[in-house]
Amino acid sequence: MKLTVVGGGSTYTPELVDGFARLRDSLPVDELVLVDPAADRLELVGGLAQRIFAKQGHPGKVTTTSDLDAGIDGADAVLLQLRVGGQAARNQDETWPLECGCVGQETTGAGGLAKALRTVPVVLDIAERVRRTNPDAWIVDFTNPVGIVTRALLSEGHKAVGLCNVAIGFQRRFARLLGVTPEEVALDHVGLNHLTWERAVRVDGVDHLPSLLASHVGELAADLKLPAELLLQLGVVPSYYLRYFYAHDEVVRELLEKPSRAAEVAAIEKQLLDLYADPALDEKPALLEQRGGAYYSEAAVALASSLLNDTGDVQVVNTLNNGALPFLPDDAVIEVPATVGASGTTPLPISPLEPLYAGLVANVTAYENLALEAALKGGADRVFTALLAHPLIGQIEYARALTDKLLAHNREYLPWA
Ligand code: G6P
Ligand code: MN
Repeated sequence: MKLTVVGGGSTYTPELVDGFARLRDSLPVDELVLVDPAADRLELVGGLAQRIFAKQGHPGKVTTTSDLDAGIDGADAVLLQLRVGGQAARNQDETWPLECGCVGQETTGAGGLAKALRTVPVVLDIAERVRRTNPDAWIVDFTNPVGIVTRALLSEGHKAVGLCNVAIGFQRRFARLLGVTPEEVALDHVGLNHLTWERAVRVDGVDHLPSLLASHVGELAADLKLPAELLLQLGVVPSYYLRYFYAHDEVVRELLEKPSRAAEVAAIEKQLLDLYADPALDEKPALLEQRGGAYYSEAAVALASSLLNDTGDVQVVNTLNNGALPFLPDDAVIEVPATVGASGTTPLPISPLEPLYAGLVANVTAYENLALEAALKGGADRVFTALLAHPLIGQIEYARALTDKLLAHNREYLPWA
């Protein structure tokens, strides 16, 4: 089996490679190809990836290339984890929205729209090349904003599934608290990418969320930086990203006081690349835990294995709604548990979504639809409309100002701007 990672020069890649090495029985990879335009990173990350495979006695080989078409040739699955413009562009996304008092974040709000506009055309071009060379290959998208990028891929008819590590993170955490294996935990995880709630945590069909909240609400709420009373009152665990909505102004005040996450990540990346350059290093370093990608490799291996081995098991993925949430259009992309097999992903039935969550999900779905229109067709008017539709923006004054800032900061990536 040949697997290709586009954006393979990412400092995250050793996490993925470690997962491929450890979990090789469920996903026997003969060749792992890392594709990246940055040859210097490829050399460092590729070298470490080869040492990780060798140390763990993996019989497969790791190769690297900056030639996308060569890298995807013959691949059974292509993982997309690229970042157009790198951390420098992310730093912009996290900074200029704050000038309007709006959250500066790489996937949420105006910054997330900027990232979508830069990213969708690049991802669609890659997907088109994949389809031309290997029409049967699966595309697994980790590239943010995953909801919009996956919707773009599916709207063009690509064989694609979107993936995020939020659900697997909760699954692992709840399993630890309950003293069971992660595989025994079935989440009622519902919403859109980076806009989800855990409504139930089932083991053998029994929901343990009420008892988890009763005993562990303090630590769960502290990690999410949300009030414990809110979790108890709602009886759900929101994802970390809901804080950008439920505590928007508080987050803005915090962000104004500290360096951007992009700046932090750039510093971590520099140290990571120095570590990767050491020929004695043959495992993923602990420093990688300071990035947000925990369990990302487990999620990727599980998904690729189910798609390629037709297992039909249940995983949380980004997939077409197709009526699963009846108040959303069929072509919306939702993040929910779905069966995964060779023919793709199908959401499990979802119990009706409470108005508090359904309202936000519908609103953000409308925004994502307009964001995709803007990414595909361009135009300042479409950018403005998407921002006006966003629940965190919504006012003409802000939507106008943010449109101007978004375009001013992204001209080099947007040929139409
Ligand atoms: C989580 C999210 C990812 C996001 C990452 C950011 O894993 O699910 O979508 O890319 O955090 O982590 P970073 O270390 O780049 O801030
Ligand atoms: Mn994510």
